[in-house]
Amino acid sequence: MNNEIIPQYNVIKREYSHNEKILLGEMRENLVDLAISTGENFQASEEKLLNDIRNFLFLRINETNENTNVSNEYLDDLSRRFLRDIIGYGKIDSLIQDDELEEIMIIGTDKPVFVYHREYGMMKTNLQFGNEGELRDLIDSIARQINRRIDQESPILDGRLIDGSRINATIPPVSADGPSLTIRKFRRDPLTVIDLINSRTISLDLAGFLWLCIDGLGVKSANAIISGGTSSGKTTTLNALSAFINPNERIITIEDTLELQIPHEHVIRMETRPANVEGKGELTMNDLVKNSLRQRPDRIIVGEVRAGEAITLFTALNTGHSGFGTLHSNDARETITRLTNEPMSVPEIMIQAIDFIIMQNRIYTPSGMSFRRVSEVAEVVGMEEGTVQLNKIFQWNPERDTIENVCITSHTLEQIASLSGKTITELHHEIENRKIVLKHMINQDIRSVEDVNSVIELYYKNPQKVLNRIILNR
Ligand SMILES: Nc1ncnc2c1ncn2[C@@H]1O[C@H](COP(=O)(O)OP(=O)(O)OP(=O)(O)O)[C@@H](O)[C@H]1O
Ligand SMILES: [Mg+2]
Repeated sequence: MNNEIIPQYNVIKREYSHNEKILLGEMRENLVDLAISTGENFQASEEKLLNDIRNFLFLRINETNENTNVSNEYLDDLSRRFLRDIIGYGKIDSLIQDDELEEIMIIGTDKPVFVYHREYGMMKTNLQFGNEGELRDLIDSIARQINRRIDQESPILDGRLIDGSRINATIPPVSADGPSLTIRKFRRDPLTVIDLINSRTISLDLAGFLWLCIDGLGVKSANAIISGGTSSGKTTTLNALSAFINPNERIITIEDTLELQIPHEHVIRMETRPANVEGKGELTMNDLVKNSLRQRPDRIIVGEVRAGEAITLFTALNTGHSGFGTLHSNDARETITRLTNEPMSVPEIMIQAIDFIIMQNRIYTPSGMSFRRVSEVAEVVGMEEGTVQLNKIFQWNPERDTIENVCITSHTLEQIASLSGKTITELHHEIENRKIVLKHMINQDIRSVEDVNSVIELYYKNPQKVLNRIILNR
């Protein structure tokens, strides 16, 4: 990519005055004293800390400027800046605060900090780390915040910030040119299936179809693997599609870093744990998947299937549980190849437990922007001569930018029909009804996780009532 065409993201840098710097120094000392005297119990809430800072500033400024009155606005502003300086992320704090940013990338000290903006794509900021020490200090303070360490012995840090953002830091010798830090920002307001339809990541037809299959009318809920490249939006799609799970299911989610935000009431969230400093206490994905089977789940959701947990998950799927997961791969066939080879090593015969492989793609435009599409939905329809058979049912057409239904019969629909005693026509009618509900949400701009979830929940309780209400409102 040519540097000249990367747009600029400017952070307004505000320097402290001489007096403000002195106050900040005093403030820090006070806090250190407080932290020492309260020991491990020191856990100030942000709000309380802000209040304390403001009171401190009020007293100190009035002491020194007996005759001049400082404005409330100035006090508020300075207290907030101090708070960010004390508990924030220093130089990059304002980037962390900006919800429009998807990713923050620090690739060394001789280059500017890059960000990926949700609307403008890749951007170059006017921030740069002066030397390796400064960047190391930031990485170290992040590591401390999350009770982890990064050093010569373990030079890679993978973790989650308090606000849910995912971070990855590396230091030499693994990153030869100096420390690096990548922050995938947590979305406070996650994308829902309605957002994904609006942004054309999935189509209304596909959403209606998947809603019926994921629910399976209570007789057969579909299992799905969402596959794609790095940052293609797999977790987001998985999260959005989870809204279709019947609210009476007991769900267990298992992740390396908590990312999923499933709106259902009955969810148990589990997170893996790395070994401690003595190399003990590690809890792997596989430990947690095994454990989840003792918790009588209806649905197991594995954030990212990567290694030994795959076989445990597939055992669960083959014994009547339902499951979802994401996996790194470039197409449906490769998904199976990866699952059946080292280190996952799932026997081919077990792969048949998956109903759908949903491929997610991130497509880059020449201007550095990108968009995401579900590029293919394939059904696993059985085995022939030892090879898993796939049936492509939806495919993205890049020329028209539409997701097309490329197969008349769906194996999953046939299974639901035969188990529920309904005809395929009746199932299609039900899909149409669910599309009416989705369309209604699009038209009424019902899109937040809570709102979408409550409409879906109502539909599960009393579908006819929801449909009647929508039709009356037309
Ligand atoms: N359909 C979408 N439209 C717009 N933004 C999206 C979409 N899907 C994901 N994103 C954004 O892209 C970023 C990466 O998404 P996500 O974490 O879902 O990707 P991923 O494929 O799971 O990544 P990884 O490979 O790191 O696990 C997030 O900031 C997310 O908000
Ligand atoms: Mg992911």
